[in-house]
Formats: sequence, structure tokens, C-alpha cells
Amino acid sequence: MTLILGIESSCDETAAAVLADGPRVLSSVVASQLDTHGKYGGVVPELASREHLRAVVPVVREALDRAGVGFADLSAVAVTEGPGLVGSLLVGMTYGKALAFSRGLPLIAVNHLEGHIHAVVMEARVEGHEVELPAVALVASGGHTHLFEVRPGWNYRLMGRTRDDAAGEAYDKVAKLLGFGYPGGPVVDALAGFGDAGAVRFTLAKMKGNALDFSFSGLKTAVLRWVESRDMDAEIQRRRELLRERGRVSTAEWREVTPQATLDLLASFQATVIEELLRRARLAVEEAGAGALIVSGGVASNRGLRTAAAKKLPCPVYFPTPALSTDNAAMIAAAAFPKFERREFAGMDLRAKAGLVLA
Ligand code: KG4
Ligand code: ZN
Repeated sequence: MTLILGIESSCDETAAAVLADGPRVLSSVVASQLDTHGKYGGVVPELASREHLRAVVPVVREALDRAGVGFADLSAVAVTEGPGLVGSLLVGMTYGKALAFSRGLPLIAVNHLEGHIHAVVMEARVEGHEVELPAVALVASGGHTHLFEVRPGWNYRLMGRTRDDAAGEAYDKVAKLLGFGYPGGPVVDALAGFGDAGAVRFTLAKMKGNALDFSFSGLKTAVLRWVESRDMDAEIQRRRELLRERGRVSTAEWREVTPQATLDLLASFQATVIEELLRRARLAVEEAGAGALIVSGGVASNRGLRTAAAKKLPCPVYFPTPALSTDNAAMIAAAAFPKFERREFAGMDLRAKAGLVLA
């Protein structure tokens, strides 16, 4: 049996997981730093590194405990090489290196984005589906919005990417502007269902050059203009106070302090983001002659996106379960398996790469 320990610390989640023989997740532990960063309305890099330092040892230990294995049972250690916050990446990588070195285990470097893609491939396999390659992968999170062609042999070609904000970042900025706190995606998604998606007409981004590139800054600005042109200060203030008092606010509570016009705005914003994502995903599938679309990253949890994707794509669409759509280490270990088989190991001179590209 091949057992791989995956460690992920690229952003604000410290995660470790143990996988057996490819797709079998024996354990997957994620320590979220939401409580640390929530009050700042976004991830604070210095705090993230500190929290990773605090969490990495217990999180790895818990992953091993839950899997019922010890260090001596492991076949390899996989770490995230990038992209991400360099100070955060370093914590997981340094720990992984030390472990691999002291136990004489091979070290495997995984690109975070490849991890997101493999989360979906792995779950499909567990369900008995083999994702048909070539496929197109849409990775949409707080830091990335990318379209890749996924070729047999796990080779990747970047087809398009955002030129400004990531899709999740657009959610986070709009939520912050309106007083819903951070992260924005889950709240906006939950509230969008109560609004009229046709109420506010936002224009779709037109890209010069690569038509598969994304842009969300225009939409963000359009929302800002909409808010500025109305008197919304009182309701925004009420939501900020509610969040400060409670820490966590339920959908029902949010609805009580959110007028219909704002729900309509959220629904229209979400519909526009979904249209931007799926329109290009569809184009990419056609261009690559792909047999499947893989959607991953935090934004893949979006309920509206899931419903619309099934209708708008001409091929099967695969989504991860919510637990594997946000950052986790099971995806890092999953992506490491083909590398383990190819004996594609990293040296002790491996370095964290904040801007690592997938190709
Ligand atoms: O993959 P992830 O956990 O971390 C990054 O690598 O960024 O993604 C987090 C992002 C945040 O921007 C969050 O607002 C967004 O994913 N997100 C969502 C939803 N759930 C999380 N965006 C839209 N709809 C959701 N349901
Ligand atoms: Zn991610």
C-alpha cells in the first residue's frame, strides 16, 4: 500500500491528509484561520504565517492519528510548492522537508492549482467515474481564476486567467463593501437565492486579445457605483454591527437586515459572475475538444454555479464536495500520486514559489 502524507499551507488554512493508493482519503484535517482574519476583512500574511507555525505540528499529528498510521508507515511526503503567500508556503514546506529528511522519505512538490484539479478527479474516481481527458479545468478561488487544458499524463496548458481580481475576490470585495464580512462567497451565495437576478443589468467584460481571459474589476466597480448612487449607509452599518456582535450570522439573520433591493443586487452580481465563468469555460471546452469540465477552488461551492453549469455545458461537469472545494491537503496528496509513480521527487533545495505557474 502506498501512503502519502499531504501538507498544505499556501494561504489561510493549515491542512494535512493521508491518502492510500491514489483516491482513498484516510484522513483530511483542516485548521482554518477564519477567526484570525475575519475581523480584518481578508487574509493578513504575517498573521497567517504565525498561525501556520502554531498549527502545523498538531494538524499533521491529527491527520496521522485519524488515519491510524505512524510516520514509519508513510511512503512519501507531499507539500505545496506554490502559488500562495511565501511566508505561509514556507511553514508547510519546511516541516514537510524536515520530516522527509529525518525519515528518509521522498519529498514531492505539488502545485496548489494542480491540487485543486486532482481533488475533483479523485472524488469522481471514488464515485466510479473516470474524468475524460483532455478536460478543461476551471479553478476559481479567492486568489485564482484560471482555465487549464488537462491533458493525458497530467500535463497542463493555461488557456485563460483573470487579468485583475479573482472570482472569489470579487465576492469578498462586494461582501465587504456591503457589510457582510469575510469571506463573501458563502453569504452572497446564500442570499442571492432570495433576490431577482434580472433586477440589475451588469455588462459582461469584453476581453481584447485572449477571449478566454477574465476580468472582474469592472463588475466590482459597477457594484460600487450602484451602492454609491443609493443611500445604503444605514443598512451597511447595521450589518457591520450585527457581525461585530455575533461573530457568525445566519442566513435568516442576514435577511432581516437586508432590504429586497440589496438581495436583488446580490442575485444580479452572482448571475453575472456565473455567466462570465461559464461562458468562457464553454468556449474553452469547445476549443480543446474536451470531454469534461472540472470546476474547483472555493468558488466551486457556489450553488448557483453548480446549477447553471449542468445546463450550459455540452459535456459532463465535475465539482468537488464542499470539503474538498476549499483548500485542503487531500488534494495535495492526490496530485502527488502520479508523481510518486513517475518517481518525480523534489530535492531538499526545493523552494516556496509565490508565483508558481502550472504548465
Ligand atoms: O480555495 P479557497 O478556499 O482559497 C483560496 O485559495 O483562495 O477559496 C476561498 C474563496 C473566497 O474568496 C470565498 O469567498 C470563495 O472562495 N467562496 C465562494 C463560495 N464559497 C467560498 N464564492 C462563491 N460562492 C461560494 N459559495
Ligand atoms: Zn486554493
